[in-house]
Amino acid sequence: MKLLIVDSTTEAQAFCAKRIEAFNQSDMEMLDLKVKLVSERDFMDRVNEADVLVLGSGLGERGTALARQAMSTVPWLHIVMFVTDEAYGGGAFRAAHSAGVRKVFPDSASPLDFLQELVAIHAEFRREGRTREGRVVAITHAKGGVGATSIAAALTEVCSVYHRRTMLWDLDVETRDLSRSLTVNGVEAKVVSAWVNGSREISRESLKDALIPISSDVSVLMPPDRMAESMDLVCHTDGMTLVQRILELSRVLFDVIIVDTAGRMGPATGTILRSADVVLIVIDDTILGLTAVDLYLTFVKTLVGGTDRIVFLVNPYSGALLGVPQIAAELEPAHNLGELPWRLPPVPNDPKAALWPGSGRTLYSMGQKSTRVVLERIAREIGLIDTGTKAPQLPSNGAEGPSSGGWLGKLLGRSGPSRQELSGTRKDVTGGEGKS
Ligand SMILES: Nc1ncnc2c1ncn2[C@@H]1O[C@H](COP(=O)(O)OP(=O)(O)O)[C@@H](O)[C@H]1O
Ligand SMILES: [Mg+2]
Repeated sequence: MKLLIVDSTTEAQAFCAKRIEAFNQSDMEMLDLKVKLVSERDFMDRVNEADVLVLGSGLGERGTALARQAMSTVPWLHIVMFVTDEAYGGGAFRAAHSAGVRKVFPDSASPLDFLQELVAIHAEFRREGRTREGRVVAITHAKGGVGATSIAAALTEVCSVYHRRTMLWDLDVETRDLSRSLTVNGVEAKVVSAWVNGSREISRESLKDALIPISSDVSVLMPPDRMAESMDLVCHTDGMTLVQRILELSRVLFDVIIVDTAGRMGPATGTILRSADVVLIVIDDTILGLTAVDLYLTFVKTLVGGTDRIVFLVNPYSGALLGVPQIAAELEPAHNLGELPWRLPPVPNDPKAALWPGSGRTLYSMGQKSTRVVLERIAREIGLIDTGTKAPQLPSNGAEGPSSGGWLGKLLGRSGPSRQELSGTRKDVTGGEGKS
């Protein structure tokens, strides 16, 4: 959010800006605050770039005239005005609000009141879709082995091909299937442990330190490197605040956030399912699979709090035992989800692509043409790539074997940014007196 602070003198501007310095770092990061100070003379040149205009008390009665002038040029601007404690009262309110100011504060107001107003403006921007915010897709399943991890990796590769900045979050703390399949590993996982045990704060900087870039657009966030922290993250209620912060920050840094929740239910996963834009439930077409989904849905529906964000993805076990309409017909009488959650096409069973783990590729680039087309359709349907964009040229299937690199190998080896480029040079990733 871009703030433009206007006041009569540089001292007065600095006084106004001091209130923002009083905010804590994480609040600033969450609002993505960028602050500019200008004089009355220059402000009309800058007002076009601003989301929020802050008028300082040094402007006195001229403040309302500036507000009026700004509103006539940028009608969607939000204006916050400070007045001296003496001036703070009904007269100032009437003048300010008739000029389009949304909030008047006295100079002695607590910075927290100002922060609250900025948070409210930011929340409105989010609702209106004005802030660019990453889309969170939580991938989950009722039982293991249905292909949830494979789908997470494949959709990430689709995003990469379409140059969407993507964070792939492996929350399978026990087996780390995703990280292992993509052969991703590193000291970065220690940062995640450090967040959990409290030896390091979560911030934009430390998130960058925790990320493992695997292509120019994709980074992986691994589970904590240690078991104790892993268990705390997914089983302890403290994990809820942490995952919430991770989501908020990653929404600022990425276009797409894909989380492999490994189906586990707990405080952290619950938080993710609740705040995700899409909850993608991967299911197979077996009887055991469907009865599991039946049970799973009874509590996931309550947890997610509605059905509009739930979508099913049928990944048939072998060939096609049951089609999507038949599966829907089995589950609908008990769950009444409507048609929308069933709108995705089933993923073809692709035996050749099943060998993706460890190959440096995924179901997407290893798959047949029909598999790729379906995965792209799914990515479009759940809003990961734009509907209008055309498919970029893909390496033709089988042209490059795993030995020649594939997606990961190619990008890690040659064109991808180095970890240092992405996260700056680090000597001790856990920071301070971080243990290892
Ligand atoms: N559409 C598919 N075609 C062929 N094999 C698949 C498909 N989807 C998944 N697989 C294979 O099934 C196995 C289990 O998948 P995985 O993604 O680990 O499941 P989950 O995360 O649900 O436990 C993997 O070996 C994977 O390669
Ligand atoms: Mg898995």
